[in-house]
Amino acid sequence: MSQFWKPGTDRPRPCLVDDEEGGVLFYSTPPPSSSYGYANLEKQRQRLPVFKYRTAILYLVEYHSTVIIVGETGSGKTTQIPQYLKEAGWAEGGRLIACTQPRRLAVQSVASRVAEEMGVKIGEEVGYTIRFEDKTVQGVTKIKFLTDGVLLREMMDDPLLTKYSVIMVDEAHERSISTDMLLGLLKKIQRRRPELRLIISSATIEAESMSNFFRTRKKNDGHATDDNGLKTEPSILSVEGKGYPVEIHYVQEPVSDYLQSAVDTVLLIHEKEAVGDVLVFLTGQEEIDAAVQILVEKASDKTSHFSGLLVLPLYSGLSRSDQDLIFSQTPKGKRKVVISTNIAETSLTLEGVVYVVDSGFSKQRFYNPISDIENLVVAPISKASAKQRAGRAGRLRAGKCFRLYTEDYFVKEMPAEGIPEMQRSNLVSSVIQLKALGIDNILGFDWLASPPPEAMIRALEVLYSLGILDEDAKLTTPSGFQVAEIPLDPMVSKMIIAADTLGCSEEILTIAAVLSVQSIWVSVRGKHKGLDEVKLRFAAAEGDHVTHLNVYKGFLQSGKSSQWCYKNYINYHAMTIRKAILAGFFSHASQLEEYSQNGMYKTVRNSQEVYIHPSSVLFRVNPKWVVYHSLVSTDKHYMHNVIAIDPSWLIEAAPDFYQLKRPNPAIF
Ligand code: CDP
Ligand code: MG
Repeated sequence: MSQFWKPGTDRPRPCLVDDEEGGVLFYSTPPPSSSYGYANLEKQRQRLPVFKYRTAILYLVEYHSTVIIVGETGSGKTTQIPQYLKEAGWAEGGRLIACTQPRRLAVQSVASRVAEEMGVKIGEEVGYTIRFEDKTVQGVTKIKFLTDGVLLREMMDDPLLTKYSVIMVDEAHERSISTDMLLGLLKKIQRRRPELRLIISSATIEAESMSNFFRTRKKNDGHATDDNGLKTEPSILSVEGKGYPVEIHYVQEPVSDYLQSAVDTVLLIHEKEAVGDVLVFLTGQEEIDAAVQILVEKASDKTSHFSGLLVLPLYSGLSRSDQDLIFSQTPKGKRKVVISTNIAETSLTLEGVVYVVDSGFSKQRFYNPISDIENLVVAPISKASAKQRAGRAGRLRAGKCFRLYTEDYFVKEMPAEGIPEMQRSNLVSSVIQLKALGIDNILGFDWLASPPPEAMIRALEVLYSLGILDEDAKLTTPSGFQVAEIPLDPMVSKMIIAADTLGCSEEILTIAAVLSVQSIWVSVRGKHKGLDEVKLRFAAAEGDHVTHLNVYKGFLQSGKSSQWCYKNYINYHAMTIRKAILAGFFSHASQLEEYSQNGMYKTVRNSQEVYIHPSSVLFRVNPKWVVYHSLVSTDKHYMHNVIAIDPSWLIEAAPDFYQLKRPNPAIF
């Protein structure tokens, strides 16, 4: 059976439909009256603000090496521009059009939308690549959506990105660490490949500073052309959207629990306001699931008018069918409530939204190079983000935005702009990638915004002690190059390589996989005791990593037999497993303070006070020496995912690091 759907006919796509009792069923095909179909999609395409600029965009791309396109969210930049380029022949002769996104979910979502608009199957003419998932076919794919991180990795095999004719760096205003690196590298590539066209697009951009960055000649030399007759002066195009006005409402008093406030506000909107969908901005999966659960419970009471609510979560990691539900039309008489991370701020457009509830927070990465602590913390958003969030309410008609913070706070305290991720991240992965691309002078690299020198030096120090960089700050052979090729945290990569020598690759790969997800434990409000009991069943004396392995093995076994045979196995292997972990994470060693009453440890590297996190199986066990996976700070600095070690292994694993022989920072 062919998996194609015929343009103009019903295509398989889940949609929300009322059942007779007022509940909601999920059908896999839309009802006959559906507005889907090729002709309709074509009309929708032409109605998008960007359509009026089609000729202008194609003209600018033809004659300029770099075009900066600024346009409101939903104006059609991401889905339309790659199609215009293809229609104009930029994908002919085996060339490819690339469009990068900072987020994986956005990559999948826009790619499938574009495939649908073009009436083709995803993964063929229109494809996408995210880490660990490649849905493209060589020689067939013409438009490729990918994360900016994946494009960076592609440079390792093809440093000049020769297969692409046009690269669109989308959502540039987000200033993700990979976007910033990409822009610096693309500027270099353009010097070697003047025929390569760049499009930098975003919802809000300091277009002027971006343009200055790409300007290769002085400003008064504006009409300069290169040898190919291309204008080297970047051109800026602003797409005028037709956003409707949005009325802003603030809370009168600061709220103490924004999750509860968000829920209450949704209920209030449903009671008091006219029809129209609601988009709620919270910060992360756990919080979003909690809010969804409360609202779903309300909505399940068929006798109350809250039964008209359709509540859906939106965060990365959702299944495809859940994603599709977000974009499907809201059935008559219902009000869709989407509770989202800041992915809906600019990356994805939801059509029917009239009301926005803005918590004022998002999850952001913060790094302190002195203490070497990187945290994903819930932090206040910027005014620029708040404005974007409000704008999402004005797409269909005039809307309302309910801000869960005071006007006073907004005016006086909220920062105007966010800080680029580059300036608040651990740079270990970025440095190794740049090194692998042959960028030797990292501090002198052409950054859009320079990273802090302390973070850079710290990263170089870690890579040196891992044996990934040599004393001249060059990648070592083979270790450094091997680590650079694995698309994981270099410390995890090093652990995997060491496991190969120690003969425990299978176990370490399992552990690496578990460590790459946020948590394998599901915490349900008010059910902590049950979780603790279950954890005890899996707990291994060696620590959390081995416990994870137990869980995984138990999981594999559970389908087959109730006899869980993981225990002996663990005792046998635990030693080598821990040594392999140490090979990557030796710089995360801590020693229990000798007379500590409260389980205080000091990190070996800089005598930082740290504690074992209560979620760890070693909490209260307090072995003398431990190695942790990450540090999380709340009231104290907590070590997450902890394993007990023998201190003699430290010197074995990293003699340079523990004899405190350090590279001279001056040579970097
Ligand atoms: O990139 P920009 O924010 O300018 O707009 P876009 O993502 O290209 O969206 C253009 C239109 O496509 C909007 O009306 C979206 O609602 C629609 N779209 C959709 O229906 N489904 C998707 N998965 C992505 C976009
Ligand atoms: Mg977009």
